[in-house]
Amino acid sequence: MSASRATAIAPSNIAFIKYWGARDLDRAIPVNPSISMTLTRCASRCTAELRPGSGPDELAFREAGGELRTPGEGFSRPVFEHVERIRRRYDRSGSFRIATENTFPSAAGLASSASGFAALTLAVTGALGLSLDPRELSSLARRSGSGSAARSAIGGYVEWPAGAGDDEAHAVALAGPEHWDLRNVVAIVDAGPKAVSSRDGHRRAAGSPFYPVRQRLLPERLAEVRAAIAARDLARLGPAIEEDAIELHLVAMSSRPAIFYWKPGTLAVLEQVRELRRCGVEAYATMDAGANVHVICEPAAEDAAADRLGELPEVRTVIRDRVGPGPRLVDEHLF
Ligand code: PMV
Repeated sequence: MSASRATAIAPSNIAFIKYWGARDLDRAIPVNPSISMTLTRCASRCTAELRPGSGPDELAFREAGGELRTPGEGFSRPVFEHVERIRRRYDRSGSFRIATENTFPSAAGLASSASGFAALTLAVTGALGLSLDPRELSSLARRSGSGSAARSAIGGYVEWPAGAGDDEAHAVALAGPEHWDLRNVVAIVDAGPKAVSSRDGHRRAAGSPFYPVRQRLLPERLAEVRAAIAARDLARLGPAIEEDAIELHLVAMSSRPAIFYWKPGTLAVLEQVRELRRCGVEAYATMDAGANVHVICEPAAEDAAADRLGELPEVRTVIRDRVGPGPRLVDEHLF
């Protein structure tokens, strides 16, 4: 067996309806369906090289423009576990040399596990000479434990059903990226790593007295978001995604022990988004398990949203992203 190498780029995604709470956290079986938009600019690139023999797997990581370095145990363990999971699933031998980077600054404090595990899964299976269809890629990326990676395996507008929760569960496309040119202006108000991982957040969610309330409200909201995407109706989509983000944070804040992801800058941005709307700029906010705010709008509103948010003293950087086509194999290897 000679060495073979593959490099994948996979985008991050922003959830309109959030995955929050799991039936089985290790296998990433969600309690509720989630819906997201796959992004373009916020992405991970991963090169995997398969080598003969039974040596240890190796991993290097870099932030955009930085040096490749050996990451700490907390970063590398889930990566090595996922590589081993893929090797076992396809009954293969050999060891992997892996390098991965985020195309956006990690210091931006954006969750990168979705793009990271989608890119890793595509690169490792590519190095094994396997060609997975998007559903297989989604299902395999999900099993990394980062459930939202299931959605990053598919481009455009994506739903990850809660379904029966079987091991092959995967996300599906609701519409391709060409269906609706939505933009995501990300206002970075906190560059640090989040205090509580989303894994702990999922674990604590069911302890919140508001968790069953959110679950009760979700079927109607999911239907609203699906219909709004189908009709390209931002006035319908926006209020639903804002409600869902606020409820995720209500659940987090009322978990035991409580989790506060918001910072003062989060509220400043939320207020500015409301102000933008009062001025006729149609833009809506959502937040993942962190303090940064993703502002969803159409192209005509993007400049105004980016300019006004960038002027806030609490905002360190603004990243302009947009809906995109999902992961792909490329020839630009990291080593
Ligand atoms: O995929 P995980 O386990 O990192 O969880 C993602 C959780 C949220 O980002 C808050 C919501 C989502 O659906 O992406």
